[in-house]
Amino acid sequence: MKKVDDNVVIFGMENSKKLADEIGQFLNREITPVQKITFADGEQLLYSDTTVRNKTVFIVCNTSKPVNENLMSLLIFIDSLKRASAKRIICVMTYYGYARQDRKASGRQPITAKLVADLLEVAGAAKVITIDLHNPSIQGFFNIPVDDLRGQFIFSNELRKREDKFVIVSPDHGGAVRARQLSELLNTGEQIAIIDKRRTGPNVSEIMGVLGNVKDKNVIIYDDIIDTGGTIIHAAEALKAQGAKKVIIAATHGLFSKGFEMFENNEIIDEVIITNSIDHSSMSHFKKLRELSMAQFLGMVIQANINNSSITEIYDAYSHGN
Ligand code: R5P
Repeated sequence: MKKVDDNVVIFGMENSKKLADEIGQFLNREITPVQKITFADGEQLLYSDTTVRNKTVFIVCNTSKPVNENLMSLLIFIDSLKRASAKRIICVMTYYGYARQDRKASGRQPITAKLVADLLEVAGAAKVITIDLHNPSIQGFFNIPVDDLRGQFIFSNELRKREDKFVIVSPDHGGAVRARQLSELLNTGEQIAIIDKRRTGPNVSEIMGVLGNVKDKNVIIYDDIIDTGGTIIHAAEALKAQGAKKVIIAATHGLFSKGFEMFENNEIIDEVIITNSIDHSSMSHFKKLRELSMAQFLGMVIQANINNSSITEIYDAYSHGN
């Protein structure tokens, strides 16, 4: 890939450093380090040693666990770049923490996804590039442009290589559109299936039934987030009970708040495919875990933002198995 122009600086936050370096390799560009000082009371000071005056700045970041710590670090760093006269600050936010608090599910609740949007804007972000927002409507919480990229293109590239045919399953009603898009990209010729899930509390859900035919079919349960794993493991069990053969789990954001052992040791589950939107370096020893890198995809998107070219062209390239 041709070197990007010199009015661009790319940073990687500490928890996104590995992905940022991969993007840097793809773009043939060094990733500029983020300097960080932590004070005795836990306060942080983040800044760049390199000038950003009048430059377009990309920050590869994610606000996964610890969410509040990572969010605050990002806001402080954006503020430092704004005050250092960066021309345009673009957050390449591979995982948007608090995206699930996107509405008042009941009285007196906050809408924290909107609060995060406000904070990013006030800090100085001029644009956000993200992937598989829990709810695409979060784009409208911002008054700056948001590219909510579609992770299906990364998954379809991988799944197209497999000989097995699959039925794509959404683990809840909310993910049906996402599942259908993946199914269409894979041209499965099969109808999707949907798990009828009812959320009974934070991180607790109950399965009411399965809509669609999975008997004697290989299935891919496709979700945006695996947090505790409860939703998707219950879904896998329900599908197996309905006669599904091979069960593969695919999700863009693997938080694995309760560890990966529950997947590794579960006989029903054949494989778990995730992206590197969150760093899983410490989990590489698990046999059932397969991580897909989004470095090339994001590198192309960063390049398109620099060249003012179209993201749709990148999708087209991926649809043809780039
Ligand atoms: C919820 O609507 C999301 O799409 C995920 O299904 C959910 O966040 C997964 O959470 P957990 O793994 O804790 O069940």
